[in-house]
Amino acid sequence: MAPDFHGEMDVSGSKNATLPILAATILNGKVSKLYNVPDISDVKITIQILESLGCKVKKDKKKLIIDSRNMKGTTIPEELMRKLRSSVIIAGAIISRFGEACFSYPGGCDIGSRPIDLHLKGFKKIGIKIDENTSNIVCKCDKIISTEVQLDFPSVGATENLILASVLGTHEVIIKNAAMEPEIVDLADFLNRMGAKVTGAGTNVIKIRGVKELREISYTIMPDRIEAGTLLLATAITGGEIKLNKVCPEHISPILHKLQECGCRVETVKNTIYLKSNAKLIGTEIKTMPYPGFPTDLQPLFTTFLTVCKGTSIVTENIFENRYKFTQELKRMGAKINIEGKTAIIKGVKRLHGANVESTDLRGGASLMIAGIAARGTTKIKKVEYILRGYENLDQKLNFLGANITREEGKED
Ligand code: EPZ
Repeated sequence: MAPDFHGEMDVSGSKNATLPILAATILNGKVSKLYNVPDISDVKITIQILESLGCKVKKDKKKLIIDSRNMKGTTIPEELMRKLRSSVIIAGAIISRFGEACFSYPGGCDIGSRPIDLHLKGFKKIGIKIDENTSNIVCKCDKIISTEVQLDFPSVGATENLILASVLGTHEVIIKNAAMEPEIVDLADFLNRMGAKVTGAGTNVIKIRGVKELREISYTIMPDRIEAGTLLLATAITGGEIKLNKVCPEHISPILHKLQECGCRVETVKNTIYLKSNAKLIGTEIKTMPYPGFPTDLQPLFTTFLTVCKGTSIVTENIFENRYKFTQELKRMGAKINIEGKTAIIKGVKRLHGANVESTDLRGGASLMIAGIAARGTTKIKKVEYILRGYENLDQKLNFLGANITREEGKED
């Protein structure tokens, strides 16, 4: 147990709400002011894409001012698409405003192939013509048609892309089996504040009635529920105590219940979460599911926590086909984990030990950080750029709570 890991803090703005909302700033052809924007590389890349399309973006700490009045571009640069696969949702906003868009297949990543077949199938259903003959995908649309789109899977990105593509026009689009994540509710709130007509966000049926024009807007991004869960799990694994402010406990209730099952004390009052870990942690079982189920993004962090919980724990990853790569690195630290397809079987150990490890992806990298804090001795993590993609100053936040993390600038890792 890391001695004396405790403190109180706010969490940053949500990465996964910021990215679709940045795409939505294309739609009004005016000025949008965003507050509580996390300073992370995924946001920087999205800003580069908006600027490459002709938007003007001013950044002042956590405030962004995006002016999309003179935007003319409709092609997302391939090199930027490759850096950020979720930039595919910018296509929906470009099509809604300009009636066309061109983008390349986003690369897969370390957690799975991450196809976009559901995005394209939904686009075709609402009247977008798609030419996939080249390495690029060329979309053209004279008019979005009123129709119902039934998603085969409640894909977050496909839901967001279809909402963005349907905001402007004279149609009515209904998305069934829509994703219900809180980030989609934040996107819909942002769009409706601009004058769009999006109803049902947060349920599995979302209706978008096209509008002619949208207004200027000022908007504050919701708190990052995955960062909140990460900080709670960092505290749970080190035997510490934490109070998180300006969060929404409802957004991560499956995590809170599972942490209680493992022996942690968890209390929630309005927008705060209090957690006190326990010297005698016991294992449990988790299965990732679309919202409101256990979020896949916190599976790596929770799996890491379970490596020091007594007994045998079982984790089933139902969303991404390759989200256990980080466990190879955890085993170097003494974790006892066996992977059988979608399932990880974990035998709790008393304590992990430090080692030289390598980040494999964003959440896997953050998992190695919390493992390193709880471990005996020193842990050196390479490829931390993965972690910087999605967490704002995570090392500083963890050090504020009592960790001892230093960055070795200028070295490969
Ligand atoms: C979003 O990714 C999030 N990213 C992910 O967070 C999150 O893990 C995921 O939703 C699920 O909650 C952002 O919001 C930027 P999906 P997305 O479409 O939209 C398959 C993080 O760590 N699928 O819901 O890409 C897909 O392969 C990231 O912050 C298709 O088969 O997720 C996956 O297995 C990681 N065809 C499953 O659906 C498609 O056309 C869920 O994907 C689209 C998706």
